[in-house]
Amino acid sequence: MTTADPPPSSSTYTPPPPFNTSTTPLIPIYQGAEAHLYKTTFLTPSTPAALKIRPSKPYRHPILDRRLTRARILQEARCLHKLVKEDVSVPAVLGLDWEFAVAADNEGNRNGNGGSWLVMEWIEGEVVRVILERWERYMKGLARESGSQEIPEGEAEKVRGLLRKIGAAVGSLHKAGVIHGDLTTSNLILRPFSPAAANAPEEEHSSPSMEGEIVMIDFGLASQSVQDEDRAVDLYVLERAFGSSHPRTEKFFEEVLVGYRESYKGAGPALKRLEDVRMRGRKRSMIG
Ligand SMILES: Nc1ncnc2c1ncn2[C@@H]1O[C@H](COP(=O)(O)OP(=O)(O)OP(=O)(O)O)[C@@H](O)[C@H]1O
Ligand SMILES: [Mg+2]
Repeated sequence: MTTADPPPSSSTYTPPPPFNTSTTPLIPIYQGAEAHLYKTTFLTPSTPAALKIRPSKPYRHPILDRRLTRARILQEARCLHKLVKEDVSVPAVLGLDWEFAVAADNEGNRNGNGGSWLVMEWIEGEVVRVILERWERYMKGLARESGSQEIPEGEAEKVRGLLRKIGAAVGSLHKAGVIHGDLTTSNLILRPFSPAAANAPEEEHSSPSMEGEIVMIDFGLASQSVQDEDRAVDLYVLERAFGSSHPRTEKFFEEVLVGYRESYKGAGPALKRLEDVRMRGRKRSMIG
């Protein structure tokens, strides 16, 4: 996942059945290396949904490709289903097809493998990456005006609160026996408590709101595990993501671990293990 360009627009794209752009608009949201994301409706015209399409890869052997896309979408759906049942805040699965057909010849016979799709509940709000980037821009402006790098206490407390909520979300995930596998700030959405409280685009140069609930998304690399080592690596990946994407928030990362400890009784051994994982990471970067 490297690019953030929108996927093909609905006017040039023929979506898999049962999606039909003449009856259901598909709004392109995101195009990654592996998946395309659209906002659409599903079940009823007033149920907003996120459609994640994993197109088949023409350069991969068809049997291998079919197995891989099928395994990933099923793993993602299974984890989401289990987590919704356990009341962990993730989008609910509304439907999926692990092997949709596309026109395989000029006559329009639909028997080729197009890939797989998953439809899930649409989560309002913004990914944490966007919120923290906006906050960092605001802090930079403030530092320029005041000539001081000091973070005002009110702003620091806001970020600490957000990080504790993130830690609590990861704790609830690990408690349920699931490892995310790709914990970055792009895979966490802050859902405002009320839609009116969402950050409006014109507020670009103000300090963003950090009120709301953390919802975890993107379970394409998730697995079920109760190993402290796996939990520690999950936390380490998140710690590295903060360090590289949001340097001004790095010093607050401990708050993630505070939230994690508060929400999850088994946190102790996983946090102990995190120290070993960090040590291994440091050694590896010294060796190069
Ligand atoms: N349920 C959802 N509700 C709202 N927006 C979503 C939802 N799922 C995904 N998105 C948006 O689409 C973007 C990409 O989704 P996602 O992270 O699942 O794909 P990806 O990173 O390409 O996946 P993968 O790493 O599995 O290939 C997210 O960062 C988010 O902005
Ligand atoms: Mg993602």
